Amino acid sequence: MTTAKEQYFPGLEGVIAGETAISTISGGLQYRGYGIEELATRSNFDEVAYLLLHGGMPTPAELAGFRKRLSENRVIPDAVVDFIRKLPRNAPAMDVLRTGVSALAHFDPDTDSNEHAADVRKAERLLARIPTLIGVRSRLKRGLEPIPPRADLDFSANLIHMVTGKVPPESHRKAFEVSLILYAEHEYNASTFTARVTASTLAGMYGAITAAIAALKGPLHGGANERAVEVLQSVGKSSNAEKWIRDSLARKDRIMGFGHRIYKVEDPRARILKNFCRELAGKIGGQASDWEGVADIIERVIWDEKKLPPNVDWPAGRLYHMMGLEVELYTPIFVSSRITGWAAHVIEQHDHNRLIRPVARYTGPADLKYVGIDQRQ
Ligand SMILES: CC(C)(COP(=O)(O)OP(=O)(O)OC[C@H]1O[C@@H](n2cnc3c(N)ncnc32)[C@H](O)[C@@H]1OP(=O)(O)O)[C@@H](O)C(=O)NCCC(=O)NCCS
Repeated sequence: MTTAKEQYFPGLEGVIAGETAISTISGGLQYRGYGIEELATRSNFDEVAYLLLHGGMPTPAELAGFRKRLSENRVIPDAVVDFIRKLPRNAPAMDVLRTGVSALAHFDPDTDSNEHAADVRKAERLLARIPTLIGVRSRLKRGLEPIPPRADLDFSANLIHMVTGKVPPESHRKAFEVSLILYAEHEYNASTFTARVTASTLAGMYGAITAAIAALKGPLHGGANERAVEVLQSVGKSSNAEKWIRDSLARKDRIMGFGHRIYKVEDPRARILKNFCRELAGKIGGQASDWEGVADIIERVIWDEKKLPPNVDWPAGRLYHMMGLEVELYTPIFVSSRITGWAAHVIEQHDHNRLIRPVARYTGPADLKYVGIDQRQ
């Protein structure tokens, strides 16, 4: 065996850290063997969530049963709502979501079991309840009372309704749903790896997902969709875009929504979502339409100067902004979808577990002599 001492890759770049049958990026992004392009354009989020959690495409009866279980599980315990009510108003939405998911563990009858069936039940409950946590927090923060979940709406429409109080127009709902499909799963990214490491100690689903949410918050990962909009807000209008981006690059700023550890030429998710953004912006007009022009200019200059492609967070931030959603909900929305991929990885880890425990190259001092505290200056 080649030991880690001989082979060290900073940031674990290119390291195969485990096996998975859930998704692959090499040769085109696929979820359980289905290409992302087809899933985004022909499937729907509920079906993709089933595919990820249950391992194959549902029959009509299986999908109906899945949707029924999701809609029946959307309500969260009053104690969790009361707890969220008491949190400081300025607590970041991602932190509240992390705390909320952790709190839900105490009310789940399957919390202590890592059995496959129990893990799937917990995954479905989390998938159903995360939009409720997002909606409750968002409305309480704005001084509004939470809206009960609507069992007659699909996942994407219910999520938007719980935040805004309105059923979205179909063009908005569809573009939003595509973003959820594209966000659902992405192999061994930082938050998924976090979930797998946590699960590999035989810690449970809730602990692993809580840890994953903490990892996703960072701006180099899921937090980038919120920062991408700050770029567009800072540019303002398309006539400023070329100068703005050239000045930023000259200052060596890191432009959020660009670059990726694996995609060096194109993030296919960004390409697919950009088309939906453009279509919706065309319908909305005004600033939404101008921001598509801003996005085009920034993409062109960053590619010419740095050879960095936009990643999925670049169009996603724009899409959520044109739908009128608050910026601090963008990464929680990512969570509402990625819970499917994370949970599938936790289940896969528990089903074939071996503790994940790599080694480090030591760079500190060695063999120092201990000096008693009374003799130290
Ligand atoms: C995602 C990301 C962390 C991957 O980075 P990575 O593979 O670790 O690459 P590094 O951070 O080592 O960057 C390599 C080079 O590209 C540059 N670079 C990478 N992303 C950049 C960006 N978004 N803007 C400007 N320069 C960038 C780095 O400055 C570095 O240049 P240098 O070699 O001249 O110092 C990185 O591209 C990034 O920070 N992107 C912005 C955040 C983002 O959108 N995250 C969401 C990812 S889906």
